[in-house]
Amino acid sequence: MKRIGILTSGGDCAGLNAAMRSIFYRAKKYGMEVVGIKDGTLGLIQRPVNSIELNYEIVSGSLFREGGTFLGTTNKGDPFHFKGEDGKYSDVSDKIIEGYKLLKLDGLIVIGGDGSMKIFKKLADKGKLNMVAIPKTIDNDVGATENSIGFNTAVSVATEALDNLQATAASHRRAMILQVMGRDAGHIALNTGIAGGADVILIPELPYTIDGIIKKLNEMKKHNIHHSLIVVAEAVKTEQGETYMIHYADGEKRLGGIGDYLAEQIMKKSDIECRVTTLGHVQRGARPTANDRILASAFGVHAVDLLARGKFNRMVAWQNRHVVDVAIDEAVNTYKVVDQNEGLVDTAFALGIYIGTT
Ligand code: F6P
Repeated sequence: MKRIGILTSGGDCAGLNAAMRSIFYRAKKYGMEVVGIKDGTLGLIQRPVNSIELNYEIVSGSLFREGGTFLGTTNKGDPFHFKGEDGKYSDVSDKIIEGYKLLKLDGLIVIGGDGSMKIFKKLADKGKLNMVAIPKTIDNDVGATENSIGFNTAVSVATEALDNLQATAASHRRAMILQVMGRDAGHIALNTGIAGGADVILIPELPYTIDGIIKKLNEMKKHNIHHSLIVVAEAVKTEQGETYMIHYADGEKRLGGIGDYLAEQIMKKSDIECRVTTLGHVQRGARPTANDRILASAFGVHAVDLLARGKFNRMVAWQNRHVVDVAIDEAVNTYKVVDQNEGLVDTAFALGIYIGTT
């Protein structure tokens, strides 16, 4: 294994640069060359392939402290059904495989979420690419790993938002609703709600009622507490089971709007004044926390070791305070949502937080 490629794919998050720095340093220990591929799959489609030879200067300094990905990424487009500039769809998988071969790579490290890993596993099978994957996503929904890069930072940013909302909630005696990301999983909302002292946590995995929320807020009034913090995950549905989406002008759809729905319903049915904060991409763009830098560094080392040992189609994972590796299929076939029986749900109940179920 003399020359390896790395790329980031899917939505960005904090800790990607730290992972790439780690990969570079570990690869140098083996005497490998490292090529950074720009913009995920898009770099491999372009001709010449859009890539950059990594060196100590590029990865040194403050890079690993910064959010985002210095290589760029994309969370749009399936190369097996790819929308070209003319608006027509085609299969560009062969082009990507050719791109890998043009770079004369012996192996590839993909830093991505479950969607990216599924795509790259298919590409690796088709083109016989030597690939290993590193899980990253603020949503923390990749199976077979307790943590993915970026999650800890997102929770930290959202917790700080609750810290800030607390003061203004108390000043105005309001219910402040914080809508957080997480796609179809409630990990960010659950962890943030506990860390940030929320009174209500709503996650897509557990049903709730507006009456249940109001009951909780009225109980607090009996203790002379007239303000509250509510955290809601973006994929929580309305009481009628409807999903709120934002439709962008370019045709893309993203989850969003449930916070406003809750505010409207609570204000219609009670005398509680609500305001809504949608945290959005600040959860993704922040500087990585110490935890994310550590996780990214450990993952990067292990990923290079796997390539060096000729172990392909593996994903590095965090289990029981150790870095291990699992078959990529095992990870992508188990989308990890909040388990009703997991300890943190019990913690929320035990703290008297309204987390739904009635
Ligand atoms: O998967 C990461 C994520 O940030 C989700 O939590 C969110 O729903 C989505 O990406 C937002 O995507 P985009 O960056 O395309 O708006």
